[in-house]
Amino acid sequence: MKKIRYGVIGAGVIANYMARAFTEGRDSVATVLADVNAAAAAKLAPQLGAPKIVSDYREVLADPEVDAVYLATPPFLHRPMTLEAIRAGKHVCCEKPFMLTQAEVREVIAALRSAPHLKVNCASSRYLSAGTALRARQMVADRALGTLYRVSYEQVTGASKPGTTLPPWRNDPAKNGGGISFDWGPYDLDWLAFVLGDLFRPRTVFGTVGNYFPLTAERVPPCLGVDGRLCAEIICDSGLTIHWERRSSEHGPNRHNIELRGTQGGLDAFFMPMPEKPGLVHYAYHGTDDLKTTVLPDAPPNWDDSMVNPIRELSRAILDNRAPSNTPADNLRIHGILDALLESARTQQAVRIAD
Ligand SMILES: NC(=O)c1ccc[n+]([C@@H]2O[C@H](COP(=O)([O-])OP(=O)(O)OC[C@H]3O[C@@H](n4cnc5c(N)ncnc54)[C@H](O)[C@@H]3O)[C@@H](O)[C@H]2O)c1
Repeated sequence: MKKIRYGVIGAGVIANYMARAFTEGRDSVATVLADVNAAAAAKLAPQLGAPKIVSDYREVLADPEVDAVYLATPPFLHRPMTLEAIRAGKHVCCEKPFMLTQAEVREVIAALRSAPHLKVNCASSRYLSAGTALRARQMVADRALGTLYRVSYEQVTGASKPGTTLPPWRNDPAKNGGGISFDWGPYDLDWLAFVLGDLFRPRTVFGTVGNYFPLTAERVPPCLGVDGRLCAEIICDSGLTIHWERRSSEHGPNRHNIELRGTQGGLDAFFMPMPEKPGLVHYAYHGTDDLKTTVLPDAPPNWDDSMVNPIRELSRAILDNRAPSNTPADNLRIHGILDALLESARTQQAVRIAD
């Protein structure tokens, strides 16, 4: 059975979590690993199945034993590495955020015009393989909720543990794009793009962002120079309106609510592994009866499958010659929203998203 041979670029935190994708005996193997940090590469290589180690990623791109690259480097390197990989004829799985701006996504789309056979996806697609995501997507496509008019997507997560340290690139908007908006925002928007399908045609965004701040003298987040919370109203071409809110590091409990509301029914969903949530919850009125609430059990997200899904998905897309579940066109919309959010927060005006 043909396996897709990967060059892994970057041997940091996420590449260590992803190692299983290349040793689990499915469609993907790692043949070469590149990192400028030799110690990091030496530590990760055995877990990847002991590929060759190089320090210059260009050697990966020139390697004829590489079909695809997995880019696990900091975000400001995603654009040059993706463009160079495409020019070298390699498929690309890029960690999230895909790029730093929508203009950079356009550059990728333009580069792919000369190599339309290449598949490119972003690891923000981690949570799309869960049964709950697939079922929610099918219900929306089948109009099982009638005409969808409102989505409310709210994720609130706790503070980092005292003493948490993160690499400096995370605290630098020029290297990371933003803070939580670029760290978790791509997951949120990718899930919405996948589940909403053709309804996800964002047109206008009005939003705010705010930075992290210390909660106590002991509990100071490692990132103070980037956003730690965002709130946006997104208006789509179809008239669907989306409330998107994500907050981190505050005095308050976690909250994870995704609510889809249509003219014939409602659906509560979740996108991350959450043992306390048994499945999707469907709501509908039938005649004069009280609201009927039905739990729809399905395979929920789990960490192991979610983590490696982008690599599994890219390899299957290459082998089946089909589009992966996340495409550059999806990332054009996702980064259009992120650009518009930051501009709206800066100008305090609603911002139209470029096509
Ligand atoms: N840390 C997480 O939990 C997590 C989760 C999901 C996605 N991500 C994403 O994965 C990417 C990497 O994050 P991370 O946390 O693993 O970062 P990290 O800082 O731990 O690792 C990045 C690695 O890239 C290497 N690197 C830097 N420049 C390089 C170059 N020119 N050539 C080769 N290697 C180079 C560094 O030496 C380092 O080992 C980011 O886009 C991040 O958003 C991280």
